Amino acid sequence: MWTAVVAVVMVMLCTSMAHSDVKPQRDFNLQRFTGRWYRVGLAYDSASFVPYREKLKASLGVVTAQANGNVNLTMWDATPAGCHSKMYYYEKTNIPGQFTYFSTRHNMVKDITVVETNYNEYALVLKHKVFHREYTQVALYGRTQRLRADIIQKFKTFALLRGFPREAILTPPAADNCPPSPSG
Ligand SMILES: *[C@@H]1O[C@H](CO)[C@@H](O)[C@H](O)[C@H]1NC(C)=O
Repeated sequence: MWTAVVAVVMVMLCTSMAHSDVKPQRDFNLQRFTGRWYRVGLAYDSASFVPYREKLKASLGVVTAQANGNVNLTMWDATPAGCHSKMYYYEKTNIPGQFTYFSTRHNMVKDITVVETNYNEYALVLKHKVFHREYTQVALYGRTQRLRADIIQKFKTFALLRGFPREAILTPPAADNCPPSPSG
């Protein structure tokens, strides 16, 4: 009986989440959002990504704002072949906190929504609005490589409600010397 009630409530919750557009952070402030962020959490359920789950590291990203409100993101990636940086260009929309991005990998335009941030600790970012196994990602960015347990929990809950299975919600360990420190 109780299980049934809980199940119904869960389904209603999931359905309403899946159908409502996710709103960006209220009064989003791009200047305060700029700077260094570690990607300490990633929810990604693509089948092609499964072999890389265990190898994922909490990469460093640097957000810079262009004068017109667009965003450049430099993301570092620790791979077996070395530490590489990649640039991403997010175009602003008329909704603050909402950007679009052309994914060359998937050959499609995606929505980037900064769902929630307090600027000095964490940011919850959703890539793509409607859940799609291959295209949707939820990222948790942190100003430091370790975040409070309640923030990690907030990220996990958000990803579960977006339809991600538990095993696709990752909190990878810190990257080792990536980007390399100036001393070598
Ligand atoms: C953003 O990237 C473009 C293209 O690489 C570059 O011309 C521009 O200077 C960058 N802007 C900032 C603020 O980093």
